[in-house]
Amino acid sequence: MIENKKILVTGGAGFIGSNLCETLLELNNTVVCFDNFSTGKVENIQHLFSNKNFKLMVGDIRRLEDCRKAVDGVDCTLHEAALGSVPRSIKDPLTTNEVNISGFLNMLVAARDAKVKRFVYAASSSTYGDSVSLPKVEDTIGKPLSPYAITKYVNELYADIFSRTYDLDCIGLRYFNVFGKRQDPNGAYAAVIPLFVKQLINHESPVINGDGEYSRDFTYIKNVVQMNLLALSTENKEALNTVYNTAYGERTTLNQLVNYLKEYLSNYDPAIANVEIIHGPHRIGDIPHSLASIEKAQKLLNYQPQYSMKQGLKEAVEWYYEELRNKI
Ligand SMILES: NC(=O)c1ccc[n+]([C@@H]2O[C@H](COP(=O)([O-])OP(=O)(O)OC[C@H]3O[C@@H](n4cnc5c(N)ncnc54)[C@H](O)[C@@H]3O)[C@@H](O)[C@H]2O)c1
Repeated sequence: MIENKKILVTGGAGFIGSNLCETLLELNNTVVCFDNFSTGKVENIQHLFSNKNFKLMVGDIRRLEDCRKAVDGVDCTLHEAALGSVPRSIKDPLTTNEVNISGFLNMLVAARDAKVKRFVYAASSSTYGDSVSLPKVEDTIGKPLSPYAITKYVNELYADIFSRTYDLDCIGLRYFNVFGKRQDPNGAYAAVIPLFVKQLINHESPVINGDGEYSRDFTYIKNVVQMNLLALSTENKEALNTVYNTAYGERTTLNQLVNYLKEYLSNYDPAIANVEIIHGPHRIGDIPHSLASIEKAQKLLNYQPQYSMKQGLKEAVEWYYEELRNKI
């Protein structure tokens, strides 16, 4: 698909970024990982240092000079660096804004000036905001429900202007609840799947916000990697300068999710089947249901997701069990 290129992955030491770095190296590309390690970790990329085609640049997207250094000589950019998490953005909207909007703009300016051929960036399903229509179709969005959602929508607006004004080829990927190996189970802003897996392995009760009937289009990381590769390599002019839902196209309730996790984890430790689930209040900024239409990506990028939620969850659970059981 994409080989023998020099590709910059911002946020390459994070969950999604490190999986992208790994696959790009397997395809014989040179990879520059640009990260400030605010939420990313050296452990995520430790196994890549032995590859001579892997380069780490420690820096901050809030500094334009760092962005200029990072894009120097690269063919394409996968821009993943951002501060994720809706609750984090509610607690500290200023920092989220600086990283996710000013940092994003710095990267666009640097990519434009360095004549980067393609700029693929992590957008978000949070851009659908309070729209209740299902499935979510790219052209129909609602009002943002959090500072984080605003930042991700502003990214799309800037990318659109840069593509039209400066001819920079941009593609935004609206990720829907991504999960898989190396997603951080620790900290106040951990995503629900790694958090629940860690709690279940520790025989602690996961807390579901609300009655558990809220649903999400949980998307396995390998489908997300496929979308990034397709976005980097497409030669279809109609496919450029737009955004795509990046998802599997099925929804799972939180109650179903916890039941699958208990089932898969109890293959390793039967006592996990008896761990009780607790229900708490709903969280501010949460929408009840999320489900993507993936028609646009299928049509324009020839996207064919290879992993259903359950297939992905089995692989992820196996990885977490190996990873976490020694740390208990
Ligand atoms: N995980 C999901 O479900 C999901 C859903 C929608 C969108 N996204 C987006 O995907 C991208 C990757 O998310 P992730 O889940 O891998 O998160 P992550 O926190 O694991 O990765 C983000 C990476 O960006 C780095 N970073 C943060 N601020 C930086 C800065 N100022 N300069 C340089 N590097 C910086 C972090 O250190 C980290 O390595 C983000 O843009 C996020 O908003 C993720």
